[in-house]
Amino acid sequence: MIYEDILTSLESEHRLRRIPDSQNGIDLISNDYMGLAQRRNEFDGEFRALCYDTPNSASASRLLQRDQEAHGRLETYLDALYGKQTLLMNSGYHANVGALSALSVAGTLTVSDKLIHASMIDGIRLGHGDTARFAHNDMDMLRKILERKASSYRSVIVAVESVYSMDGDVAPLYELVKLKREFPNIILYVDEAHAFGVFGERGLGLAEELDLIQEIDIIIATLGKAAAGYGAFIATSETLRSYFINSARSFIFSTALPPSLIAWNQLMIEKLTSMTDERRQLHELAQWFRNEVEAITGRGCQSRSQIIPVHAGSAEKAIAMAASLRENGIDALPIRRPTVAAGTERLRLSLSVALTREDLVKVLDAIRLSLL
Ligand SMILES: Cc1ncc(COP(=O)(O)O)c(C=O)c1O
Repeated sequence: MIYEDILTSLESEHRLRRIPDSQNGIDLISNDYMGLAQRRNEFDGEFRALCYDTPNSASASRLLQRDQEAHGRLETYLDALYGKQTLLMNSGYHANVGALSALSVAGTLTVSDKLIHASMIDGIRLGHGDTARFAHNDMDMLRKILERKASSYRSVIVAVESVYSMDGDVAPLYELVKLKREFPNIILYVDEAHAFGVFGERGLGLAEELDLIQEIDIIIATLGKAAAGYGAFIATSETLRSYFINSARSFIFSTALPPSLIAWNQLMIEKLTSMTDERRQLHELAQWFRNEVEAITGRGCQSRSQIIPVHAGSAEKAIAMAASLRENGIDALPIRRPTVAAGTERLRLSLSVALTREDLVKVLDAIRLSLL
């Protein structure tokens, strides 16, 4: 069978993915950046009180659902936080696939950073408009594309992440906003999956930290990472919210999130908004750790966030490094093609405020050993 051949060649290239056994070492894999998922027992009482008599299934798509109370309440809460109109989506994957495919109609150009997440790539691929890509964070290249092409389209969607999921570096949001002023048909689309909960005074993301929320047309935030829940939302204008309700197929043709989960999501987001001290603590920890990793590897680290890559250079080496860390009680995932480009295979270390410096000193020792 052709699929057996594909699996065999993946195996021979050290690229065969397997669902890992459960892990219980120092966790550098999960995206529980604010440590909220680990503290779930603390919130049990509050959650139960909120969830009394709340259904565990929406039983229909949002457009057909009878009970919209929990969804409406959370959207109203998020609208007030962002000063925008928000729309809950079933996951970050649903949000990007639904929103980008809906935006990319004939007469539009979608210009995206080369390192955007697979869910954004899939959304763009499903669209019918024209597409172009610029090298990662290369604003000169983006400008050249815009100068050449923007005036031929009704709308140009510029799609980026604020904190990149594999390198932990950040998009130049100020420059993007400046370009938007120069090219008025730009719709700026920013996926804050790894920044929501982690950046900004109330944890609303890098856009909040830089005071750019109102300048960005579409913000995507996911709830399965720092928010310790599941789902996502789009924060945008009233017009685009209405447009997504009418054309984002992942919104229209999928059962809505369960009301009980919505209640949990809201509880976690409320906690997140007041975790300003923890956010500062996480950023300090990450900065110290990045400096230590740079000293060990002798190579500069682009990361400006809690996501810190340690480059291995090949899939085989990345796997060996992860195995070596595991022997020392540390769980870290090797990242290979197609998630990252060949030659840039790495360990992706994801820090959480729940980790202590002592934990991370052990991690640094283990990294040193794995590089020998
Ligand atoms: C940048 C980015 N956007 C979207 C997603 C998808 O979000 P979700 O896990 O909620 O589907 C992810 C990863 O999960 C991501 O890293």
